[in-house]
Order: sequence, then C-alpha cells, then structure tokens
Amino acid sequence: MAGPEKIRVLIVDDIQETRENIRRMLQFDPTIEIIAEARTGKEAIDLTHQKLPDVVVMDINMPDMDGLVATEAIRRRLPYIQIIILSVQNDIRYMRRAMLAGARDFLSKPPMIDELTNAIRQAGKVAFEEKRKAQVNLATMEAASSSAAGHRSLGKIIVVYSPKGGTGCTTIAVNVALGLQTETTPTVLIDASLQFGDVAVFLNEQGRNSIMDLTPRADELDPDIIEEVMINHKSSDLDVLAAPPRPEYADSISSDQFSKVLSYLQRMYSYIVVDTASYLTDIVQSSLDIASVIILVATQDIPSIKNANLFLGLSDASGINRKRVLFVINRFDKRVSITAERIGESLRQPVDAIIPFEDRVVTTSINRGTPFIIENKTSILSKSIYTVIDKINEKIAEQHEEDSVVQASSRY
Ligand SMILES: Nc1ncnc2c1ncn2[C@@H]1O[C@H](COP(=O)(O)OP(=O)(O)O)[C@@H](O)[C@H]1O
Ligand SMILES: [Mg+2]
Repeated sequence: MAGPEKIRVLIVDDIQETRENIRRMLQFDPTIEIIAEARTGKEAIDLTHQKLPDVVVMDINMPDMDGLVATEAIRRRLPYIQIIILSVQNDIRYMRRAMLAGARDFLSKPPMIDELTNAIRQAGKVAFEEKRKAQVNLATMEAASSSAAGHRSLGKIIVVYSPKGGTGCTTIAVNVALGLQTETTPTVLIDASLQFGDVAVFLNEQGRNSIMDLTPRADELDPDIIEEVMINHKSSDLDVLAAPPRPEYADSISSDQFSKVLSYLQRMYSYIVVDTASYLTDIVQSSLDIASVIILVATQDIPSIKNANLFLGLSDASGINRKRVLFVINRFDKRVSITAERIGESLRQPVDAIIPFEDRVVTTSINRGTPFIIENKTSILSKSIYTVIDKINEKIAEQHEEDSVVQASSRY
C-alpha cells in the first residue's frame, strides 16, 4: 500500500554547491521528495509547469531573473505552490518583498536542517490543502502532466459583456486572453461583436480570416479546419477568431452555428474568451448561457450602473447564477465619488476587480496594436488584469468544487 503523499520539492539556486547542500539536508526525510533542481529563475518557472512541485525552495540572487520575480510568476499561474525564500540578506525589506511576491516563508542562508525541514513540512501541508480546496486549475495540471495527455477537460468559456458600449470590454477581453494564454493553457479569443468588432485591430492582425469561415461548416469541424482559419498572434501564440470583414455579414451567422463552434473549441482550448457588443443578440445570449464566467464591465457613472443593474435583473430572471458573474469596474478613478463598494452594494453584486483609468497607456496600446499586458507585465494596469485572471480561476475552481459536491452527494 502506498504511504502518505510525499511533499514534492523543487530546489532553485544558481550555485551547485548550495543545491547539493540543501539536497543533503533533505535526503533522509521520508516525507520529502526532491523532484528537480533549477539554476535560474526562468528554469524554475518552466520546471514548475512541467513537474508541478508542492514546495519551491528559492534563492533570491540569480543571474537571469531574481527569485522574487520568479516567485510572483509561479504563484500567479499555480497559486497552490508554496515558496520558501532562502537569502543571505537577512533584511526586513527583503522579507517584506518576499511576502509581497507571495512567498510563504523566508529563511536566512545557510538554513539549519530542522528549520528547513519544518518550513517545508508546513508549506507542504498548505500546498496539499490548497490543491484539494481549489483543485487548482485542472486544465493546467492535466495539460502539463504528460501522463494525463489525451483526456483534457473541456475548455472554459469566458464572456466579456457590458450593457453599455465603450466601457472597455474589448480592452479587457484582449488583455485577459493574452494573460490566460500559455503553452499549457492554449487560449482562443473570439470577437462576437459581429458588426463592428475590433479585436483584430487591437492586436494589429486585420485582413485575414474570420468567424464566417467557420460558422457555415459548424457541423463538420475538425482540428485542421480550425487551425487553417485561426489568426495566430505571433508574439503571444494566442489564437484569434475575428469578426466578419463587413457589418452586413453579421446577420448570416446563426446562434446555433455560433454555439456549435464554441462547443467545438472547448475541446481544443483551455480558455475561450468571447468579446461582445452591448446589444443582446441571440448569439450573445446563448454565449452567456454556456459561459463559466461572465465578466460584467461597468464604469463609475449612473447610466452604466443603471444598465448593469438591468442586466443583472435580466440574468437573475433567466436563471444565470450570480456566482458566475465577475463584476469589474473599468476606467476607475478614485477622485470620482462613486466608490466600488457603493456600486457593489447598490447592485447586490460585489465588485471583484478594479481597472484604473489610464488614458494614455490604453489609447497608445490600442493605436499601436500592442496590448498593454505585452508591453509591460508589471504596470498597475497589467496587474489589475492579472487580478481579473486570478478571479476567473477562483470562480472556475469554485464551480468545480460545487460540481464534485453535487456529484458526490447524488451518489448516496
Ligand atoms: N482602463 C482604461 N483607462 C482609460 N481608457 C480606457 C480604459 N479601458 C478602455 N479605455 C478606452 O475606452 C474606449 C472604449 O474601450 P473598448 O475596449 O473599445 O470598449 P468596448 O469594447 O466596451 O466598447 C477606448 O477608447 C479605450 O481607449
Ligand atoms: Mg468592443
């Protein structure tokens, strides 16, 4: 019979001797298994995706990318992983930065053997707990571990919607899709703003295929057809399904065809992000019905809030669970007296994320066709997009958990 699950540890340090010392300290501990070693921050990120450790023991000073940046990147993608920072600088400012980056513990170098094993056991316990609780991002884990190849779960549909135009749906859809796209979580962005969609413009990818090249073949799709029609955004590898080239073509697409394309894409991608226009067409409605997450976008003004309220009323009436709604305030300006809390209270829908008003950055990124999340991953704007992404994954994990509870209870 298998013993209790071992804590899988990744050691990250640019100096071989240090790595060996740590390995030596841990080798006889029956609860710990060292699954890999990395020499750089980048290697650490790649290895966490491939090997899915529970705990990472991380050096701070490394040549290509420092341990704190790597920590942040790892925690953003796989938040259940617990990271212990080892540093020669036993300095409170470093500790603070480590905690802000999402590290769980901070030990000075060289650590005492007991101190290190205790820290790893503690961290391992938290990692197990988190993994169980969130069933973290199942799509990532399944895609990442080769043993599970071949039976990936269906991709999640994320619809970005605002009942008022110009609030920033396209800006959010494009940047969120880029943030979700990784090698292990292939993502497609679909422009369902069929008449005047501008997703392709935002990505500087105009003038090629569109959704119209798929919808007539909705009943006979195969991976080759999909690959042929998709616009592949080179620098990110994000696939894009653009809106038809002319507004009058929009009417030729039926919601039945559109839904069929969406469900087919669920088999090929981990995330399907759908940008919409404010008019509630059949196509938008049917996408909302099958979405795992609906990003509802509003701004701090009365017409936008009024419309968001009307939309929530309508979605309540049509049986859309409010837990699927991820409420975002865009173009947020703290000088405006309507606060996010007040908006949340008056709509009885708490605000999940706030995206700041940054006129210059957003406008330039649109005009250049280079979304801001590509230009600068650490700006306040990009960080707010990563918050949205974290909330998306939280909502998906929550639903997963509820589904398993329902399944489990229906068995008895
Ligand atoms: N966070 C933001 N700060 C400043 N301007 C923004 C922000 N988000 C969007 N905008 C601007 O608002 C306008 C509408 O954005 P867009 O994404 O096209 O909205 P929608 O798709 O909802 O119509 C654009 O001109 C864009 O530059
Ligand atoms: Mg738009």
